[in-house]
Amino acid sequence: MPKEYKYDPEDVSRFFDEHGEKEWERLVRTPQDRISLHLHTEFLREHVEPGMKLLEVGAAAGRFTRILVELNCRVTVTDLSEGQLALNRKKAEELGFASGIEDWHRLDMCDMACFLDGDFDAVVCYGGPLSYVFEKADQALGECCRVLKNGGIFFSSVMSVWGAAHAFLPSIMYLTSDQIDTILESGDVTPHTDPNNKHFCHMFRSQEYRDLLERSHLHILDMSSANFLSVNMGEQLEKIMEIPPNWNELLRLEKETCRQPGCWDTGTHLIAVCRK
Ligand SMILES: C[S@@+](CC[C@H](N)C(=O)[O-])C[C@H]1O[C@@H](n2cnc3c(N)ncnc32)[C@H](O)[C@@H]1O
Repeated sequence: MPKEYKYDPEDVSRFFDEHGEKEWERLVRTPQDRISLHLHTEFLREHVEPGMKLLEVGAAAGRFTRILVELNCRVTVTDLSEGQLALNRKKAEELGFASGIEDWHRLDMCDMACFLDGDFDAVVCYGGPLSYVFEKADQALGECCRVLKNGGIFFSSVMSVWGAAHAFLPSIMYLTSDQIDTILESGDVTPHTDPNNKHFCHMFRSQEYRDLLERSHLHILDMSSANFLSVNMGEQLEKIMEIPPNWNELLRLEKETCRQPGCWDTGTHLIAVCRK
């Protein structure tokens, strides 16, 4: 039996401090990344209204911060990693979206006592912050709900266990059968389950994620994987991307299929949109 792993905020912030600029590139490096960016952004476009006061949790370098400012929100940016927060400020100043940002706070989402109850119209927690807090996921989500006003919207995405196995199969094949079984069963990538990996996180099943959201009394409006159809298409996708009508058709198909319940567990990430 692997030893139980506990959430370690220092470990997470060190990882993301060292990750630096790579975090800014995370959703634009490959065509698959761009599809994931598109799917996440579509939910923001569908539910965000101009003028909303919005909290972004685990914002990192600001890929979504920029989009939220372009949607005319007033954004409070937060992250556990000092390095990512500094990068967010730098990108905002360099790329001209700092005027839409109310403030930058370094904090751990497990304790957001610096914000009042019900202070935000929406909370965005994209790219897995809830996957990094392991046994504190209920507490961290509870904090997001506390600062959200009644009727407010919670946008989130977490890592998906089956989707990750699907997308990254070659990189788990070097592990022993016992290690693979333990990771797939527990959803946990830790120093004990995968000693060569430095990216520790909990990967969810869709039902487990729905249960977590519902324990915090959130009403789930939408769910989606990111991505499904084209996740293993490799270089073929580059060719599709060069032809705008074909690329747009692929984005439309991904959006349709990823939202089908049968596909929720198939992407590297699981997206949920909820109302408090
Ligand atoms: C993979 S990045 C995602 C960034 C961005 N939201 C996106 O989707 O592109 C995850 C971010 O969550 C932050 N994070 C992890 N655990 C956190 C916590 N407990 N409180 C606040 N931020 C956290 C990390 O520092 C990192 O910047």
